[in-house]
Order: sequence, then C-alpha cells, then structure tokens
Amino acid sequence: MKAMITGASSGIGEAIATNLHDLGYELIITGRRKERLDDLATRLGGDRVAAHTLDVTDTAAIHALVEEVGAVDILVNNAGGALGLASAQEAELSDWLTMIATNVTGLTVLTHALLPAMVERRSGIIINLGSVAGEYPYPGGNVYGAAKAFVRQFSLNLKADLAGTGVRITDIEPGMVGETEFSLVRFHNDTERASSVYDGMQALTPADIADLVRYIVTLPPHVNINTVSLMPVDQGFGAFNVTRHSS
Ligand SMILES: NC(=O)c1ccc[n+]([C@@H]2O[C@H](COP(=O)([O-])OP(=O)(O)OC[C@H]3O[C@@H](n4cnc5c(N)ncnc54)[C@H](OP(=O)(O)O)[C@@H]3O)[C@@H](O)[C@H]2O)c1
Repeated sequence: MKAMITGASSGIGEAIATNLHDLGYELIITGRRKERLDDLATRLGGDRVAAHTLDVTDTAAIHALVEEVGAVDILVNNAGGALGLASAQEAELSDWLTMIATNVTGLTVLTHALLPAMVERRSGIIINLGSVAGEYPYPGGNVYGAAKAFVRQFSLNLKADLAGTGVRITDIEPGMVGETEFSLVRFHNDTERASSVYDGMQALTPADIADLVRYIVTLPPHVNINTVSLMPVDQGFGAFNVTRHSS
C-alpha cells in the first residue's frame, strides 16, 4: 500500500508521513527541500520511504513524478500555506499568485493526475488540507481564505463525482496548528512575529492532525468522512466588525 504526501518536509505533512509509515504504508514524500525529506526518510529507518523533490506549482514535474511512481492508495494534498496578513488593498500580488498556485493549482493538478488510477482500481483515499480560513473570513485572510474555500468546495464536489467508485475524499480544516513553519512562512521568516502567534495559548499540534488522518484511513472502506473542522480549545470566532462614523 502506497501513500504520497506533499509538503512532508515540515509540520503537518511530516507528522502525517510518520503516522502512515507506522501503519505500514510505503511512502512517497515530497517537497521542495530535499535534505529535509532525506532527514525524515532516515528517521523513519530508510525502508519503505522514497523522497522526491517536487514543487507543486510545477505541472510538468507533477506529471513526471506520477509517471515515475504510478498509482497510489492514499494521496495527502498537504503542501500549501499562507503568505502575508496584509489587507487586500495592501497585499503583494506575488503573494496572492503563489498562494493560488500552491494551495489551489498544485492540489488540483496532482489530484487530476492520480485520481483516474484510483477509480480504475476502485479504491483510494484523498485527504486535502483545507483550513477553517476556508469557511470563516478574517482580516488579512483574503486570498489564503479563498484558496482554502476552493479546497473545501473542490473536495465536496469530488465526493459528488466519486460516489459509488470506492474512492474516498476528506477535507481536513484545522484552526491554529503550532510546531509548524506556517507562521514563519506567512511572515516571510520574521521569527519573532511568527512565534508571537502562539504566545500564551495551546495550539493544535501536527500530531493531532496526523492522528486524525490515522483514524480516517483506518475506517472501514464504506465510510467516507467528508469534512473535519477542528480548532484548539483556546481559539474561537470574532464578532462582526462594525465601522461607525466613517464618512
Ligand atoms: N499551521 C496551521 O495553523 C494550519 C492551519 C490550517 C491549515 N494548514 C494547512 O496545512 C498544510 C501544512 O501546513 P503546515 O502548518 O504544516 O506548514 P509548514 O510547516 O510551513 O509546511 C508546509 C509544507 O508545504 C510545503 N510546500 C510549500 N510550498 C510548496 C510548493 N510550492 N511545492 C511543494 N511543497 C510546498 C513545504 O515544503 P517545502 O518548503 O520543502 O517545499 C512544507 O513541507 C498547509 O496546506 C496549510 O495551509 C495549516
């Protein structure tokens, strides 16, 4: 049994890869930083793990990898993240386009490449990493939230098409997950700003998400979990923002 995990070089992807390896899967771990993938392969003991450099924004590279590795039993579309927290009118266009290319286009191309073989074999599980940002807007979330809304709706529409095929599809939508590089990447390597995000609160951990994946993939084959939304106990929703006397 083979599982491909994108973005396995840190955070949630690394934890999911570790759990799937524990379950006995042969892994194809991908990401742009090969040395991090090689480290993980070594930590997992080297057997049943193939590390492949893959930038998910490179469609030709995705097709070449799929051609090389063939069908998989599990695809975890985890690679992604946020860039910046500026308001829409101040955000960098390059950040927006990178978020769309990674969170939306990369996930879509890889799914398109691997799905037909799953349907042909009448089995397979796709797990997408969405976010609570895909359902609940927040200031500065703009394109990141929109990209994760795509992940949510694409996952539900896949479920519609895949009914009766034996292929399962889940969108996991976490709130704040610490012990990842998510905030470091979002704040363009500003370590102080990144660590302050989790000050004084208990965030979810990558292991929490990986345990959820373990649960999902060990369910009987007739059970499909469509969407999972989860948050730290210390996180909640904001009130509606009302601007008064603005003119
Ligand atoms: N942390 C949170 O609070 C949180 C909450 C909700 C959802 N999520 C989602 O969970 C997923 C994992 O994030 P994380 O929290 O674990 O953050 P992370 O530690 O920054 O991990 C992101 C992973 O994505 C990979 N990646 C980024 N751009 C890529 C590209 N162009 N091609 C291939 N791989 C790429 C990175 O690997 P390389 O840099 O080596 O390529 C890295 O392994 C993301 O989709 C994120 O949006 C995170």
